[in-house]
Amino acid sequence: MTRIRTRVAIVGAGPAGLLLSHLLAKAGIESVVIDQRTREEIETTIRAGILEQGTVDILESSGASTRVRTVGNRHDGIELRFEGEGHRIDFPSVTGRAVWLYPQHEVLKDLVAVRLAEGQDLRLGVTAERVEDAETDHPRVIAVDADGQLLEIEAEFVVGSDGSRSVVRPAVTESATGGYFREYPFAWFGILCEAPPSSKELIYSNSANGFALISQRNATVQRMYFQCDPEVDPASYSEEQLWHELQVRVPGTTLNQGPIFQRDVLRFRSFVAHELLRGRVALIGDAAHTVPPTGAKGMNLAIADVIVLERALRALLLENDARLIEAFPETALNRIWKAQHFSWWMTSMLHVAPDATDFDRKRQIGELRSVVESEAGKTYLAEAYTGWPLPQAG
Ligand code: PHB
Repeated sequence: MTRIRTRVAIVGAGPAGLLLSHLLAKAGIESVVIDQRTREEIETTIRAGILEQGTVDILESSGASTRVRTVGNRHDGIELRFEGEGHRIDFPSVTGRAVWLYPQHEVLKDLVAVRLAEGQDLRLGVTAERVEDAETDHPRVIAVDADGQLLEIEAEFVVGSDGSRSVVRPAVTESATGGYFREYPFAWFGILCEAPPSSKELIYSNSANGFALISQRNATVQRMYFQCDPEVDPASYSEEQLWHELQVRVPGTTLNQGPIFQRDVLRFRSFVAHELLRGRVALIGDAAHTVPPTGAKGMNLAIADVIVLERALRALLLENDARLIEAFPETALNRIWKAQHFSWWMTSMLHVAPDATDFDRKRQIGELRSVVESEAGKTYLAEAYTGWPLPQAG
């Protein structure tokens, strides 16, 4: 068995864990990051694509990504489409902010590269099993490395940024699930295809046939989703059927078609762990919360957690001041529940529930009209989509 010591042990090399280790290193705080996946798996898993302005700012100002503004694309608005008509919501005019289309795996490539270039102790292929002694000054992560050897990491603080199936979570909530939970009776069928963009901005379309999202990746690759049954087998559709399902949900736009080279089904869940902190162990990112993807909040919320936690860890570990870490759950939960509401609201406003009645359909159109025909409605959506202000750095 190998025993190592560090100041902060971070379980999970997703955007939250890697950015946290980067910011801690800048503050002179050493950490070890472990993840059971390989570098290739981390850098190629297809996830969400929209970054809030505040997320872009922190990635850039901390030196974590130099490519986000050059490879990424700034988007100044989205379109809500219903009853076949498009309604654009302009972000800068109501919030002064924009969002960036820059896929999560690109963020991860940047973060892995910068952490390795700076000599970070990043151990991949290492599977965490559990966390012990959470309520002492020396919590420990028990893990197994790629060769099957036991690895014990003793730290002054442990962070669970290990996703929705977190193994750190039980040490914090005292149960594997331990949270507020909601499931939805639909999922998204996602595709990646080789085609030119069908629209310059994202289209969120509510139609009698169900929801569709027309997103992009770059000039030659596009990402699109349509509402489907959560139990559907992704292989059961022909390409022709997929294009038909997408096209009927965006009346008014002729989609540019091309070979579909990736397909997946994304389940919809809302989750917030009952506790985010126990002793010297904290949960961030998907380990702490999950949102349905309609509001594009998942990764942004994880980054917001990092900003709050990093500041608290600096106070704790450099100044022996525990006030910010004690306040961490309340501070983080304020934003988490706003994002939970926004993600639930976008989801329920845009999708067609399997048991929806005619009343429900007409009420939904009334709801969409209340948003697009009101400055206050559009402003709320734009504020939430581009991201509420983050705590100031420093
Ligand atoms: C994506 O491009 O993958 C994407 C964009 C916006 C969302 C969700 C996913 O709300």
